[in-house]
Amino acid sequence: MLVAGSIGALSEVWGDLQRAAGATERLVELMQAQPQIKDLPQRASAPSVADSQRGDAIRFDQVCFSYPSRPGTLALDHLTFSVSRGARVALVGPSGAGKTTVFALLLRFYDFAHGDIALFSTALRDWPITSLREQMAIVPQEPVIFAASAMENIRYGRLKASDAEVIAAAKSAHAHDFISALPDGYASFLGERGVRLSGGQRQRISIARAILKNPPILLLDEATSSLDAESEQEVQRALDEILPGRTSLTIAHRLSTVQRADQILVLDQGRLVEQGSHESLLAQNGLYARLAKLQFL
Ligand SMILES: Nc1ncnc2c1ncn2[C@@H]1O[C@H](COP(=O)(O)OP(=O)(O)OP(=O)(O)O)[C@@H](O)[C@H]1O
Ligand SMILES: [Mg+2]
Repeated sequence: MLVAGSIGALSEVWGDLQRAAGATERLVELMQAQPQIKDLPQRASAPSVADSQRGDAIRFDQVCFSYPSRPGTLALDHLTFSVSRGARVALVGPSGAGKTTVFALLLRFYDFAHGDIALFSTALRDWPITSLREQMAIVPQEPVIFAASAMENIRYGRLKASDAEVIAAAKSAHAHDFISALPDGYASFLGERGVRLSGGQRQRISIARAILKNPPILLLDEATSSLDAESEQEVQRALDEILPGRTSLTIAHRLSTVQRADQILVLDQGRLVEQGSHESLLAQNGLYARLAKLQFL
């Protein structure tokens, strides 16, 4: 009986080992994956501080880009615009216009064939990828929340931040009150993909990460799904606290955002079709005026 029991237990252990081996193989595969976009060998260091103080924050010059899976269609078509330092710029356009693509290229998730993009007057290709991405923080349309505590989720913005810094960032992002009200405060588990949070709360966690990172440029992709009026106000308050004096490029779906922007860029089918302030664009009575009537007004 003793021997039979032990053999039974052994076969169970064997099954566990097999499962672990399978999972490890998959993990190792992920960890060894090589990104297709690499640093140029001759550029091992970031542009000097003096260099990174010059010129416009962002400049797109005749950029054309097609997604590798759709080589025939241009997602961006000779796109030219610039964002000066400290400006608050809004991107507006119908669905599929190429707004999120602009962010993907800025963060160098893809390389493009034609045209130039420069960040602080240095071409993207000449930035080491890590320091390039250190210049920007992104608040995505659908923020990613990890199956971890609120504290760890915010600290993802800057891994070396202390608890006090995380809490300060949460306060500026108007996230402190709802986090404190969770059963274990900052130690509360947020659930797989943040299922225990509302859409507005997930966004404020993501804004807190951006504040903690404190980069020169902020990229915001506003959620298309409407937040309830109160969450929207909280998110707006958080942004009003951090955006003034900082360079930001926001994909706008809300009236409050376009009204506060210094400049609005209107994209359609990958092209820049109009630009100006909310009032001047409304007066032009073109695509923006039509979108504004549908979306904001
Ligand atoms: N990964 C991808 N592979 C292939 N095509 C893509 C990919 N991502 C986007 N596209 C295509 O590129 C075009 C621009 O998409 P993009 O996501 O930039 O639009 P958007 O302006 O952000 O729209 P929305 O307001 O709906 O978010 C669309 O025609 C889209 O179908
Ligand atoms: Mg988008």
